[in-house]
Amino acid sequence: MTVNPFWQTFPQAKETFRQDKAKAFTLRGKVAPAQPVTDEGVPFKQRIPTFHQEASSMKDYSQQHKKAWEFDAYDFWVRTSGAPEERAKKDVENPKAMLRRYADYFDRFEGVRVANICGSCGKKAVPLALLGADVTIFDISEANKRYALEVARAARAPLTFEVCDILEIDLSKYAGYFDVVFMEGGVLHYFHDIDEFMRIMYALLKIGGKMICSDFHPFTKIMDALKLETPTMSYFSTEVYEGEMAHARFYDEETRKRIPKCRYRKYTVSEILNSIIRVGFSLERFDEHPSWENEKLPGEFTAVAIKEK
Ligand SMILES: C[S@@+](CC[C@H](N)C(=O)[O-])C[C@H]1O[C@@H](n2cnc3c(N)ncnc32)[C@H](O)[C@@H]1O
Repeated sequence: MTVNPFWQTFPQAKETFRQDKAKAFTLRGKVAPAQPVTDEGVPFKQRIPTFHQEASSMKDYSQQHKKAWEFDAYDFWVRTSGAPEERAKKDVENPKAMLRRYADYFDRFEGVRVANICGSCGKKAVPLALLGADVTIFDISEANKRYALEVARAARAPLTFEVCDILEIDLSKYAGYFDVVFMEGGVLHYFHDIDEFMRIMYALLKIGGKMICSDFHPFTKIMDALKLETPTMSYFSTEVYEGEMAHARFYDEETRKRIPKCRYRKYTVSEILNSIIRVGFSLERFDEHPSWENEKLPGEFTAVAIKEK
């Protein structure tokens, strides 16, 4: 008789699975067999990075963020960044300049496999692809995908776009696949468990791979130094709060009220650095960048970390 290696690793799950076997759950219209759960009722596949996922269990807050980021997003990008052909022209003219400071964090571009986490409308991914990188955007918004791929096509830059929750990236396909994991400009606060997020970043990288994690500086928790019209709070607050999506302030009052909200968790400097270290990365560098609104205040940061083993 063949013994399933899953039961050998998690013997206590077997009984729970037997009891639940009759149940099936339906998600996104798909019927999937009941899954084994831990004593706390957490599916085993969620406790460890998922190497196969038959049905989505997208968190409520991620579903909320998807709605927010699909609200008028394509038209917003056309209004603010230009029609895809215009945007492509700018990217082609000087891709390195379009990357701004982030260019300096890459050792090289040609042939480098880059995962652009929450890469949005492709404003950094298309320049990277033009410089020769093999880029995959992971982002939850179909509207962002449409704009990014139209720009990429017009720029003749090959680009892959996976519409998915970062917490549900298909690791059977992408674990150990990338040389660089890159994010910038307001990403971490969409994820309420920073260790869960960082574990996925770690899993995506090859040994020797590098994470370039740039984001709004935690100082913006206590002062709206980037003038994003976001609420301030105690620096040490661990609260998850409901707030406007990033573009809401660009709409008239009536529309602004209708835009679906997001649920944010803002982190301190030490929470970010300790999480990077805790999941196994070696922290190589931590830079602080001045706010674009007031150069005397911190606005953004970039952490560079290596997966050494
Ligand atoms: C403020 S943008 C990040 C900045 C972006 N790199 C840019 O080009 O400006 C936030 C992005 O995160 C995406 N997002 C939010 N929650 C997500 C999730 N759970 N999984 C994947 N993408 C998510 C949104 O669709 C949006 O494109």
